[in-house]
Amino acid sequence: MNVVLLGAPGAGKGTQAAVLTKQLGVVHVASGDLFRKALSENTELGLLAKSYMEKGDLVPDEVTIEMVLERIRQPDCAPGVLFDGFPRTLSQAQALDEKLDGEGKRIDRAVYIEVPEEELVKRLSGRWICRECQTPYHSESSPPKVAGKCDVCGGELYQRADDTEETVRERLKVFFSQTLPIVEYYEKQGKLLRVDGDRDIEEVSAAIARLLEAGNA
Ligand code: AP5
Ligand code: MG
Ligand code: ZN
Repeated sequence: MNVVLLGAPGAGKGTQAAVLTKQLGVVHVASGDLFRKALSENTELGLLAKSYMEKGDLVPDEVTIEMVLERIRQPDCAPGVLFDGFPRTLSQAQALDEKLDGEGKRIDRAVYIEVPEEELVKRLSGRWICRECQTPYHSESSPPKVAGKCDVCGGELYQRADDTEETVRERLKVFFSQTLPIVEYYEKQGKLLRVDGDRDIEEVSAAIARLLEAGNA
């Protein structure tokens, strides 16, 4: 099964991916995580991505597509992939469809997590992330058991450089202008599932699980 998680910055894609990958037995492929990994390793790709990410802009399609397609070529992705943060433009969505089609595969479902804008800003300003495994936490809604440490792997928690209010506003603008058309793209293909993401993390997880089950019945 291949599933795309859609949602604005802060909608809870990374949070829900942690639950969903276990439920579905698929691999989590998050383009933002891949860029941040490249950056932490000081690669050419990382340095290029940084100049866009710190402004809240999208990294150019060509490099993004190449990076993600390279990732899903790895053997661990064979059982299926949960895409998080990719595709983010129509060209990315089309490139992914073409690639999967060439292998006799396809995107089965696209789950769109909807959250009001003010809530998104609140979530991102209180977010902490594990430097090692990228698990997201929130100082109020989902704090780690031990302050500053990841529950999953014990890694150090940090705040993302693009989570400042100014950059968050820009990321939201970019989402509504460049990524929202993808919602319609998947809707036209009859693959879209909409989820109200403005409730507790567990309730959102349960709603997604129900929708995916109903969709496969
Ligand atoms: P990326 O890393 O993909 O960031 P994003 O899309 O902006 O999304 P976020 O990771 O900020 O939010 P999320 O939905 O994962 O929320 P989370 O679960 O953490 O991209 C970063 C940058 O990389 C882009 O700006 C761009 O420059 C570049 N990039 C990446 N992909 C690209 C692509 N395909 N093309 C071009 N450029 C690309 O949750 C947020 C917070 O809320 C957490 O603190 C969490 O604990 C909390 N929370 C979650 N759910 C709930 C809930 N139900 N109730 C209360 N709190 C909650
Ligand atoms: Mg994320
Ligand atoms: Zn961790």
